[in-house]
Amino acid sequence: MKERTFENQIELRDCVDFKVDSEKCLHCGLCVRDCAFKVLSLNNDGMPAMAHPEKCMRCQHCFAVCPVGAIAFDGVKAEEVPPVKDLDFPNAEQVSNWIKSRRSIRKFAEEDVDPAVLDKVLKLLANTPTGCNARALTFTCYPNRAAVKGFREAFLKAVEEHRNGAKLLPRWLAIPAIKLRKGGEDIFFRDASGILIVSSDETVPGVTTPREDVTIACSNFELLANANGIGTCWCGFLKLVQNEIPELLEKVAGIRRTTPFYAILFGKSAVKYARAAERGAYANIVYKH
Ligand SMILES: Cc1cc2nc3c(=O)[nH]c(=O)nc-3n(C[C@H](O)[C@H](O)[C@H](O)COP(=O)(O)O)c2cc1C
Repeated sequence: MKERTFENQIELRDCVDFKVDSEKCLHCGLCVRDCAFKVLSLNNDGMPAMAHPEKCMRCQHCFAVCPVGAIAFDGVKAEEVPPVKDLDFPNAEQVSNWIKSRRSIRKFAEEDVDPAVLDKVLKLLANTPTGCNARALTFTCYPNRAAVKGFREAFLKAVEEHRNGAKLLPRWLAIPAIKLRKGGEDIFFRDASGILIVSSDETVPGVTTPREDVTIACSNFELLANANGIGTCWCGFLKLVQNEIPELLEKVAGIRRTTPFYAILFGKSAVKYARAAERGAYANIVYKH
């Protein structure tokens, strides 16, 4: 079986490597029942088999649900993945505390994020859910201050070069861009030490929810980054500027202009928050019975 990579995943889409260990299989049918697209069925001998590999979205639910680890999927054997019961999880209160204590960071420390920690976090994003498990996401990362400096410079250049007929840039963009060029406050990128741009290629067959996929991946990055001591802030400004200057990201980051994307600023926080915000009263919850 050819090794599956991000580049060849489309080419190999219909060729699923699904193996069952007949010694271990309990013939319980859990894998068949949990298959969302009814790809699997039980053979006459009670063993699961791929009846419709072309419909398989490689979600690995069959692999994950098997109570005895009888399934190997795309070359990964159950023994290589620890059982869920052996893993540590934060309890409900810890998760609540985390959600309430996470803050948008707008003042970042000078120091860069440890590249090994960043790499670990980015690799974990392969686990972020995507519609139909399409996983056509690209994580373009400016990992340190030197890289962000280059990005900021290219951004300012693209803003300055932009011409839209006789139309001037709007004030909300022109004024802070001029200030930034003069070494003033960076309201676009908050002087972060890193920038992550998550994009999804909606032209890839099988991609059904590119915008949602991008947003969820950013949200998961926020979760993982904060758990690893890295502060974050969503960079809505980049989106606004891209709307104004359609060629911006193509010029600055080589990301095609129609590509759905979002950006997150990150770095070590220079601010320590003493307590969580309390916004419970603002949640608009509507129960229908
Ligand atoms: C989609 C999105 C875009 C955002 N864009 C920016 C931005 O461009 N600049 C900024 O300083 N904060 C930005 N924020 C941060 C919000 O202002 C912040 O999440 C909100 O005020 C709540 O504060 P908290 O994140 O500390 O709970 C953005 C947040 C989201 C969810």
